[in-house]
Amino acid sequence: MTDEELLARADAIAVRAYAPDSGFHVGCAVLTRSGAVVEGVNVENAAYPLGVCAERTTFSRAIVEGFSPGDFSVAAITASPCGGCRQWLAEMQVERVVFRNGGRIVRMTVDELLPEQFDAGELA
Ligand code: THU
Repeated sequence: MTDEELLARADAIAVRAYAPDSGFHVGCAVLTRSGAVVEGVNVENAAYPLGVCAERTTFSRAIVEGFSPGDFSVAAITASPCGGCRQWLAEMQVERVVFRNGGRIVRMTVDELLPEQFDAGELA
């Protein structure tokens, strides 16, 4: 599956976003190393800070489905990932990230998205 095809999956799933507060629909589609695609959307809440980004619903769903950090090759997102979601992408050890930003399609590694990241190794 190409990055463009994966991004098209993110675009398609974005219509399912629950975003009554911002009206900003975000879709995420993650390609696993086994070839499966897991999708998610942002889910907002009237208590604003409780809303969940599309990346986090996607990876939460993937974990529930039995995938683990390291199983993910590409994440496609319809918007530039926020700072917190960059930390999630790092935790999930995603190899590459492709996203739309200001009319462009951007491709970056997690190290480029979040340099000098905090990881579990710091907790030891
Ligand atoms: N949003 C995401 O789903 N992912 C991001 O990385 C950026 C922001 C959502 C959160 C909120 O529901 C809406 O976009 C507006 O911030």
